[in-house]
Amino acid sequence: MSAAVAAYPRLPRVFAGLRRDGLPLRLDAHHATHGPLPASRGLVELVGESGLRGRGGGGFPTGRKLAAVASARRRPVVVANGAEGEPVSFKDKLLLRRAPHLVLDGAALAAAAVGARDVVVAIDGSADEEVGVVASALDERRDRGISWQLAVVPEGFVTGEETALVAALEGREPKPAFTPPRPFERGLRGAPTLVQNVETLAHVALIARHGPDWFRELGTAEEPGSALFTVSGAVARPGVYEAAFGTPIRALVDQAGGVRGQPGAVLVGGFFGSWIEPTAALRLTLLDSDLAQAGAALGAGAVVVLPAAACGLDQSARVARYLADESAGQCGPCVHGLVAVAGALETLASGLGDSRVDAARWLEQIRGRGACRHPDGAVRFVESSLDVFADEVELHLAGRCSGRRGEFIPTGRGR
Ligand SMILES: Cc1cc2nc3c(=O)[nH]c(=O)nc-3n(C[C@H](O)[C@H](O)[C@H](O)COP(=O)(O)O)c2cc1C
Ligand code: SF4
Repeated sequence: MSAAVAAYPRLPRVFAGLRRDGLPLRLDAHHATHGPLPASRGLVELVGESGLRGRGGGGFPTGRKLAAVASARRRPVVVANGAEGEPVSFKDKLLLRRAPHLVLDGAALAAAAVGARDVVVAIDGSADEEVGVVASALDERRDRGISWQLAVVPEGFVTGEETALVAALEGREPKPAFTPPRPFERGLRGAPTLVQNVETLAHVALIARHGPDWFRELGTAEEPGSALFTVSGAVARPGVYEAAFGTPIRALVDQAGGVRGQPGAVLVGGFFGSWIEPTAALRLTLLDSDLAQAGAALGAGAVVVLPAAACGLDQSARVARYLADESAGQCGPCVHGLVAVAGALETLASGLGDSRVDAARWLEQIRGRGACRHPDGAVRFVESSLDVFADEVELHLAGRCSGRRGEFIPTGRGR
């Protein structure tokens, strides 16, 4: 995948100064682009004023998390979350690969602001290149008062969930834990732990340099700034693009070279996201407040354009099976519910019977349950599949199908 920057005014920010040859920005080039590491004084307040929200999918206000960790009684630790197990998201890996020092600056600044010494950068085991780049970047740095650790964590969709990540870093299986306590209260080795997505940290590094007013020059009052979006599927140039919140989805897709052929649907928000009918999707903007009209949310910013030639019902059944397989397998809603829902979608997709009532019953039972948001994310995805591909379901029940089957949306690990 390629990295590209928007033709939108005042961008790029996170992607400023990226090398054209795809190699990482070394420390001197990073400083030439962004300036030296600023002081962390007042950072918690600055980030709070900026309105920055986490870019790992949950959208939690970063300033509030920083303030909570900074006020903890024990010395906290910082974890930069670069696990990115989502098969249709590539932004965190690309950021680590191309601009590692921006992420490390953000982690170092956050650590100084909350009084942490230990900073762990967690990257998943499939990302050899990113691990090498970050290791070299750490060799270049001389951060006083910080002890860096680069941790390679097991691949998997739920590994990046913050309590699962803490478990992985402690050498346990990466399974989410029931909360509270959340990691910011009690996390790695019992210490208050600031788990922050790597892209969030890159924005922290920029806010520390340019201030909250600069950050708010893009986006809206409620959803300020820019973000990285992974655009894939039926577009001419799949890749990671930086765009301001509020940018029309059509403009984001145009940056990716535009739709190739006839679109069938657009998946917004990745595997925890929603399918939207293409004409409606392209008219919406990159704002949760706008997407809410279509029952959708940005999540971690993955956008997939499905070509009309691919059967949306078949793709949805594949993703549902992936989500069922990727659960940590420890709570009822995943062990029984997600497996049953995936089975119901597969039955519909293969035209073997009308399992819609079964699917609806299971979806109701799963909603809001389990230790983590995995079942809720899956419910959102499956409900939108049944809604947007309702005509396709009817066709399948009549023994027909309007598209092709097969792996169009990647579900990772060769599945
Ligand atoms: C199933 C699941 C998987 C997740 N995977 C990731 C991930 O790969 N990377 C990430 O940063 N956050 C992931 N999250 C969100 C984290 O739990 C956490 O909210 C995030 O790392 C906090 O950082 P942020 O506030 O900067 O977004 C996941 C959450 C869930 C429920
Ligand atoms: S809800 Fe599912 S994914 Fe989350 S901890 Fe329970 S079994 Fe694992």
